[in-house]
Amino acid sequence: MKKGHFSKAGFILASAGSAVGLGNIWKFPYIAGDNGGGAFVLVYLLTVAFVGIPLLAAEIALGNMTQREPVSAFEHVAPSGKKQWRFAGFSFLGSFTLLTFYSVVIGWLYYYIYLTLFHLPTSIAEAEAAFMGLVTGDAITQIFFHALAMLTVALVVAGGIQKGIERINTFMMPALILIILVMFFYALSFDTFGKAVSFMFDPDFSKLTAYGVLVAVGHAFFTLSIGMAAIMTYASFSGKQTKVLSSSLWITGIDTAIALLAGLMMFTFMYNFGMDPQKGAGLVFISMPAVFYQMGAVGNVFAVLFFVALTFAGLTSAISILEPTVAHLEERRKISRTKAVWGSAAIIYLIGFFALLSQVKGFGFLSVGEKSLFDAIDLLSSSIMLPLGGLTLALFLGWVVDRHNLERFLEGHGFTKVIFNVWFFAIRFVAPVAITTIMLYSLFFGSL
Ligand code: TRP
Repeated sequence: MKKGHFSKAGFILASAGSAVGLGNIWKFPYIAGDNGGGAFVLVYLLTVAFVGIPLLAAEIALGNMTQREPVSAFEHVAPSGKKQWRFAGFSFLGSFTLLTFYSVVIGWLYYYIYLTLFHLPTSIAEAEAAFMGLVTGDAITQIFFHALAMLTVALVVAGGIQKGIERINTFMMPALILIILVMFFYALSFDTFGKAVSFMFDPDFSKLTAYGVLVAVGHAFFTLSIGMAAIMTYASFSGKQTKVLSSSLWITGIDTAIALLAGLMMFTFMYNFGMDPQKGAGLVFISMPAVFYQMGAVGNVFAVLFFVALTFAGLTSAISILEPTVAHLEERRKISRTKAVWGSAAIIYLIGFFALLSQVKGFGFLSVGEKSLFDAIDLLSSSIMLPLGGLTLALFLGWVVDRHNLERFLEGHGFTKVIFNVWFFAIRFVAPVAITTIMLYSLFFGSL
């Protein structure tokens, strides 16, 4: 029997907490900016709807149906003679590698709360110097805040499903949504809001490249936390009241809303202060602090709130990234939760330590081929392990598991016959084709 269960709302909040992460606020706006806006957003939304939701529903179904950690979940459902499909459950290892650098970025965010409280940079040049100084010059500060970040994540996961994970999400998710909403409503009062809306929603297909399409598809998987058995693991702690269809729609709805609201808000502010949205990865850490400075007193408050919101977004995701490993060690390897948490947190911390060092001047030898260790781990988790996990899940449910059992189970979860057929088609054909394409592309042409 499981130790701990989510309440119905707790499961949705925690899974939305997993989905809403650095991807939504940090990555989505800048890749939308880099790839021309509207047309990119359209491809992203279509992928979320037709591939993302079906895969998310698949993860929730597998977890809820089996009530087991990932490897045992696959093993349990696989028809006899095909039990080697249990290896698909090892997709949780993708979450393990993802966390090594995700926690480094949360460390930066901790530092930015401190920075914006006491020394908000006054210009782009200063903001850039501060950020580059941290990432390429200040190993000690990064090591310290990275440790704090891992410590927070481990403490919550050690607290268990109800007292740790559900509790922190019930606090952080509403707080995060509130902060984004307040800033969004403030942005509504700016003249440049209209410009932000047309940038994000007027599709100009001449600006969309094949590469942009693949980035949009890849991000749709990443933002929903698909393919690393994270939501599957959470779902294994969900009860009978949890319904697959409505939960998937809620989680996706919250995730998409936060990405769009945050994007609109940030573009409005940036246009207003004469900045170009195409600023790449420095958008959150360089452009935004400078924008907040120009906003005056309100900006000072917003700057801190903004980084608190990002920190909450990152932490609630990081927690769900650690849980699959812990659930596996605890349930399948019979290691105590405490040992599983601290053991895996220590290893993740250590790998993250080398990843952050690899970006610091003088440590260039920590590289894999042309890439720094940091970028290599990002590529491995987001562009190889994540798609592989999504692919095996789709192939397993679409081609290996008995279709009628699936249909019978999902009937009790809000799926009508038509919805089931659409879902099954997406899982059997659309998802494998979409995923194989982005995987081959990133293997041959580099990270998306
Ligand atoms: N969805 C998270 C974000 O947008 C990132 C993420 C990808 C993730 N895969 C995951 C989080 C697996 C938790 C588990 O930032």
